[in-house]
Amino acid sequence: MKTCRALFLLAAIAASLLAVACGQGGEEETGNQAQTSEPPLSWDDQSNSEWLYRSQYKTTMRHMWLNANRIVAAGSGENEPSWAEVEMFATDIHWRAELYASYWQLLVAESEEGLFALEDEDRIGVSAQIDKVSMACDSCHAATWSPWYLRVNEGTLDQWKSNEPRPHIAVNPEPNPPLRTPHLEEMKLICDNEVDLRASLDKWDLAKMEDALTSIRNVATARSAFWKPVVENSATIMDLAQRKKREGLSEAYGGMTFGCLACHASNVGKLREINNPVPWTD
Ligand code: HEC
Ligand code: HEC
Repeated sequence: MKTCRALFLLAAIAASLLAVACGQGGEEETGNQAQTSEPPLSWDDQSNSEWLYRSQYKTTMRHMWLNANRIVAAGSGENEPSWAEVEMFATDIHWRAELYASYWQLLVAESEEGLFALEDEDRIGVSAQIDKVSMACDSCHAATWSPWYLRVNEGTLDQWKSNEPRPHIAVNPEPNPPLRTPHLEEMKLICDNEVDLRASLDKWDLAKMEDALTSIRNVATARSAFWKPVVENSATIMDLAQRKKREGLSEAYGGMTFGCLACHASNVGKLREINNPVPWTD
């Protein structure tokens, strides 16, 4: 199996996921306590299984959805908006969107730096930039993947609880393989680009490295562009809420949620239904 990169074992992760996608059945997910008849002591039952397999990316998406719907509830209609609520929920969307946008912007910057080093035929520079590109990928993975994807499983937790460090070893089969969304297919594409980059660095194949870096740069540019209307319009909503100005609020909301819909159309497509934010009602 090809290796995606030297750092962090992303390759092992992708390889094992692909193995699952190619036909091995996943194991039943264990933690469905909600279905037992006994009510839990608290809904926050500290269950690890809930946490271990939960994608932080999707959790963020759901929070943005909640935030958007709360903005409509607080800001639209006849009555004076509850400005503090509008501002609070717009702020949360803003920071989350800005965080994701910033990972893609970093990737754009690092791959462009790599392209400059290629132009100069600066071997040490190119090699350093490939590492930086990988780090830009993985800093986002640290922020978005489920603990399981990050190779943290029940065994890891047990060892950590007894204060033992645990090496990252791949053992579990994927209990709940993700859908092959266009989003994941694009991840696979840039992962292959990275494999090519490292292989062609050894051979000093300038043309191949340029292709791979350009492809990564283009994907990152497009992703960053999808976040832009979300980042900018949520900032506008925050500003309007601070100034208690209704004018422009529905347009900013429309612009923001257009960003959600446009990215879903391209990165999720028809593969699954997404809870898109409720439309503005006046
Ligand atoms: C840059 C792309 C992008 C942007 C921008 C984006 N999303 Fe998403 N969103 C995705 C992808 C990809 C998925 C599907 C993840 C999956 O199924 O693995 C998703 C899934 C979701 C889901 C389903 C989550 C779940 O747990 O199943 C919700 C809800 C959602 N997005 C809300 C939003 C809202 C609200 C916004 C705007 C404020 C937004 N998204 C902006 C890419 C994006
Ligand atoms: C802005 C965040 C972000 C950036 C930047 C990013 N990724 Fe990802 N990556 C994700 C998310 C989210 C997933 C899906 C995790 C899930 O489904 O739970 C993912 C999944 C993957 C996977 C697993 C795909 C599979 O087949 O399941 C690979 C491999 C991958 N990314 C490679 C890369 C590479 C290589 C780069 C950099 C060139 C990169 N990613 C940059 C967020 C990012």
